[in-house]
Amino acid sequence: MKVLVTGITGFVGSHMAEFLLDQQVEVTGTIRQRSRLDHIKHLKDIRLVECELRDPFSVESLIEEVKPDLIFHLAAQSFVPTSWNSPMDTIYNNVSSQVNIFEAVRRIHPDCKIQIACSSEEYGHVEPHEVPIKETNPLRPLSPYAVSKVTQEVLGYQYNKSYGLHVVLTRTFNHTGPRRGENFVTSNFSKQIAEIEKGKQPPVLYVGNLQAKRDFTDVRDIVRAYWLAVHHGVSGETYNIASGTCWRIEEVLNKLLALSSVDIEVKEDPQRLRPSDVEILLGDYSKFHKQTGWKPEIPFDQTLKDLLNYWRAQP
Ligand code: GDD
Repeated sequence: MKVLVTGITGFVGSHMAEFLLDQQVEVTGTIRQRSRLDHIKHLKDIRLVECELRDPFSVESLIEEVKPDLIFHLAAQSFVPTSWNSPMDTIYNNVSSQVNIFEAVRRIHPDCKIQIACSSEEYGHVEPHEVPIKETNPLRPLSPYAVSKVTQEVLGYQYNKSYGLHVVLTRTFNHTGPRRGENFVTSNFSKQIAEIEKGKQPPVLYVGNLQAKRDFTDVRDIVRAYWLAVHHGVSGETYNIASGTCWRIEEVLNKLLALSSVDIEVKEDPQRLRPSDVEILLGDYSKFHKQTGWKPEIPFDQTLKDLLNYWRAQP
């Protein structure tokens, strides 16, 4: 079986590649000229193809050459604050890459099955009585990133209905673990703690909005979910992937601080506050569980330990 992973050099992509190699499939991943390969340099059996996903010609050659049986489309501009600084770039990047993949697949290799990494950010504003959030909840996106993900999802639905493409849409809630990008909250706090422990940063940890609540799953559970989604999910359908538990960011911070013996002062950095923050994300994943049998297995405390140890091990 030939599997293509877009965004293979990224956080989820690198874990996806590890998971796929254990399934004994042929793994190809897309990279760009400036891609950093740190997260995948230990993986010897993957093939890397240079491809600019925003360029339809580049994507057409990729699909022509690889003719994948499965695609995990993970490449995206995925950091919410960046989407306020450059909204058009986020929307263009995330939407055009996907349209290019769909167009190339439908013309060249229409039997390919595709998983699209959508996001719980699409729910945006959620009323207190709407949690845990089901797939049927209204989408009220609160950032350009969220709008780009709504668009990706609706395009998935449309290409399935218009051309019969096999597309499964996963609305994934927050996920973390080793190799998480340093901008994202769990990784950012862990990195700061590790730097303070090493004496590289004064003992002050900077934070943004600690009152938001998020539903975290370990990335290693997430990639297993994507595999099940593409094999057992119904084409054109959307599935929540979540842990079903949520934590206030302040509680996450306290869990991380409790893993360290250093005395740390916590300070709000106004630059870290967003024009609008999603207050609560707590997912109901029962639809996905019924369809695939998936449930998260790695406890959140273990994930946080692994993440902090990852940062401690960085030079
Ligand atoms: N990044 C960051 N840095 N966030 C902070 C900080 C900080 O110093 N302090 C508090 N927060 C709060 C944010 O305001 C937000 O409410 C929450 O922590 C989580 O922020 P992120 O880790 O940046 O993730 P996100 O929830 O905005 O988006 C992530 O999850 C989505 C799925 O719901 C990303 O991974 C998205 O790509 C993903 O789609």
